Amino acid sequence: MTLSRRHFLATAAVATLGFPALVRARNLNSQLQIAAVGADAKGFDDIKEIGSHPKAKYVAFCDIDANRFAHAEAKYPGLPRFADFREMYAKLGDGFDAVSVSTPDHMHALATITAMRLKKHAYCQKPLTHTVWEARQLRLEAARTGVRTQMGNQIHSAAEYRTGVKLIQSGRIGKILAVHTWHPNMGNGFTKRTTVPASAPVPAGVNWDLWLGVAPARDYAPAVYHPFTWRDWVDFGSGTMGDFGCHLLDPVFTALKLGEALSVKADSVGANEQTWCAKQTIEWVFPGTEYTVGKTISVTWYDGGRLPDATLALLPPGKKLAGSGSIFIGELGVMMLPHVGMPQLFPEEKFGKNLNPGELARRARDNNPTTDKVAVSLADRVEGSSHYHAWVDAALDGHETTDNFAYAGPLTEAVQLGNVASRFSGVKLIWDAANMKFPTKPEAEALLTKTYRKGWEFKPSGA
Ligand SMILES: NC(=O)c1ccc[n+]([C@@H]2O[C@H](COP(=O)([O-])OP(=O)(O)OC[C@H]3O[C@@H](n4cnc5c(N)ncnc54)[C@H](O)[C@@H]3O)[C@@H](O)[C@H]2O)c1
Repeated sequence: MTLSRRHFLATAAVATLGFPALVRARNLNSQLQIAAVGADAKGFDDIKEIGSHPKAKYVAFCDIDANRFAHAEAKYPGLPRFADFREMYAKLGDGFDAVSVSTPDHMHALATITAMRLKKHAYCQKPLTHTVWEARQLRLEAARTGVRTQMGNQIHSAAEYRTGVKLIQSGRIGKILAVHTWHPNMGNGFTKRTTVPASAPVPAGVNWDLWLGVAPARDYAPAVYHPFTWRDWVDFGSGTMGDFGCHLLDPVFTALKLGEALSVKADSVGANEQTWCAKQTIEWVFPGTEYTVGKTISVTWYDGGRLPDATLALLPPGKKLAGSGSIFIGELGVMMLPHVGMPQLFPEEKFGKNLNPGELARRARDNNPTTDKVAVSLADRVEGSSHYHAWVDAALDGHETTDNFAYAGPLTEAVQLGNVASRFSGVKLIWDAANMKFPTKPEAEALLTKTYRKGWEFKPSGA
């Protein structure tokens, strides 16, 4: 990218992250007028969920694939459609207040920051960005503009994760010694490729040039990029780490109040220039917080079939680790937080039985007295609420969301730092977050950002 070293350094240090004067929608009684970037798949999900807020009003849709407007059109007939979000923003002008961005990862930052620079509120899918540098820019831009922001890891607002956060912060298992988080997917599991496939004609209706956007040019090929399978490719997606890290590590970040990592180290198999590695273990060390033991806390990620040592979870005989999730190792016990399921506490001899929510509800309904000690009761439960509506409310009344870019930026930086480390297997990368440097491995700094295609570059925040 044409990012000068001076700009890089100038914007690397995080300014004080207080928000400036609140940016409000034009009229508190009016609806929030929203434009969607990415109209199908998760984009349509976002349109449905955000659009179900009584004060949300979609005003236009953008998708690079003319074949993918049918769902959005059926839900909100007759709205203007665009292929290029830059054109949509320019045409709509003051006719929109906010954007929901649900493109593949490589386009999140540009579509979102361009809107924020027009003072539009932004809801952007997870992972917030494709690189560490982009995550820093979105965080800085949110602080600079004061627009209301939310990352699209909607489980952040669900009962399961909220209850897990409450149990940790209330000290139920004591202070935390370590966290282990896992997801079974392989980083290149959707295509199983490590090399670029043969090119093929672009299907009618697909604007391949706009799909590539910021990424270096390459030919279209079916089934391996658009839709969905772009996740495997370094130029477009973020592998399993990016697909699930902002989900699974979110309750870890919230519960422990984590911020910027001190170091990150990967043990990865199958790293290559084109696709994300097949399997990996990544360990971050973060500064300790009020919820952790000691001066630092280690968080370890496993994917591609790797798992933490199950004996750490103190599970009863016959019980297995969840398919994906985290175990928090505390001074007094262990909390397993499945993705997505209610938290469970171990050992059961100490905390009581981990009953599923259906069983808890049945007992409450039937007024079924029990002598069983229950590990996580209905009284422990924190109800969930709409992550999507929280953002609309924030944009309309000016309050903050809990998953704004001041929070989602550092979470995404950690996730994408993991992806940098996976390309340097076995090397502990010491992270100087303020200056965005790896002092002991400067050659890894190139992977903090990426090469932007000519005409698709963007300036750092505040430049
Ligand atoms: N929060 C969740 O639970 C969740 C679930 C799935 C996907 N996602 C995220 O949502 C995003 C989209 O994922 P997906 O699975 O829907 O991908 P997808 O490829 O299936 O769909 C993306 C949609 O955006 C369109 N698109 C692509 N580039 C565009 C551009 N530059 N401008 C406008 N439209 C564009 C595509 O044509 C397609 O309609 C990703 O960032 C992904 O990580 C989040």
